[in-house]
Amino acid sequence: MLFDNHGRQTTYLRLAVTDRCNLRCRYCMPAEGIDFSPKDELLTYEEILHLCGVLADLGVNKVRLTGGEPLARRNITSLVAGLSEQFEKLAITTNGILLPPMLDELIGYGLTNYNLSLDTLNAEKFALVTRRDDFGGTWAALEALLARGVRTKINVVVLKGTNDEELADFVALTEDRALDVRFIEAMPFNDDDGNHHLYLSARQILDNLRETYPTLASEAGDDAHASSLAYRVPGFRGSVGIIPAYSRSLCGSCNRLRLTPKGTLLNCLYSTKGLELRPLLRAGIGAADLSDLIVEFVKGKHATGQDTERLEQAGGIFASMTSIGG
Ligand code: GTP
Ligand code: 5AD
Ligand code: SF4
Repeated sequence: MLFDNHGRQTTYLRLAVTDRCNLRCRYCMPAEGIDFSPKDELLTYEEILHLCGVLADLGVNKVRLTGGEPLARRNITSLVAGLSEQFEKLAITTNGILLPPMLDELIGYGLTNYNLSLDTLNAEKFALVTRRDDFGGTWAALEALLARGVRTKINVVVLKGTNDEELADFVALTEDRALDVRFIEAMPFNDDDGNHHLYLSARQILDNLRETYPTLASEAGDDAHASSLAYRVPGFRGSVGIIPAYSRSLCGSCNRLRLTPKGTLLNCLYSTKGLELRPLLRAGIGAADLSDLIVEFVKGKHATGQDTERLEQAGGIFASMTSIGG
């Protein structure tokens, strides 16, 4: 099993399968994209499944596909089919644009939890934030998900001056939909537009929501390791969450491990160093040796993520979240 030196067990893998994306969200990537990894530097599906078999034996029971845009990787359904043999719970974080034609096949393989990135309900603002004019694409994915009754969350990165006036409209979506809307503190990745001043804290987000919904009440939530603080408007069908991604107040219950598209394991979103597995996998490392290495690596996980303010003063963190998988 994977225990760190702070008594936490790692049971959740965030698996970034690509750093490419069909959108260019301003808080994530510059307009021209990033230096995308050449294909031969990405782990192959075979390598991923070899590694995931070891992780499953070490007690990991939940895998979330991330990216970049995970659905943009070729033949992603075949990877999901392989993962479904190894893990109890499969999840994905996606902008949804490529989802509708694949959805039934993915559900068939047991991909049951969908987190949809959608920062605004206004088509023009969507084009402004993502630099692509396709609000309709993400909205169609939301409708397809709700029609099939699968567990769906919307991730809203809160951006001062861009979408902070419409946060309550997202809460309104939870009135009669079985939907979890989560508001995320903006993190200082890809600061090409000087994004940092756009930051609103979890507290400020809550105050903002309570201007329209004064009865919004905190609740226990259904996941002890959740990345979000849970709330609900009494009587509403869906729920509301706030993710303190920047202030990191939930690190104490972290159960996550990340794998980057190039095959580096990271103990934290804010890690600056990881365990580079690609060369070892390509050299044919066996399951037992791989398992020992990972067990040791996880022991070294820090109690909380790095001090975000200090990192920011030092010039930000990574070029883009897509190279670490959010
Ligand atoms: P659930 O499995 O539904 O709880 O989803 P999740 O919150 O783990 O995943 P998702 O990909 O939807 O992430 C939502 C936001 O939470 C993103 O902005 C992530 O970067 C942030 N996030 C996810 N994991 C961590 C983490 O370990 N630490 C911090 N600080 N933020 C995280
Ligand atoms: N700050 C906060 N959240 C971000 N995401 C991407 N970049 C950032 C950032 N700089 C979110 C996406 C997606 C999730 C995986 O991470 O919107 O929902
Ligand atoms: Fe793509 Fe997500 Fe980055 Fe937007 S935030 S560019 S959807 S990877």
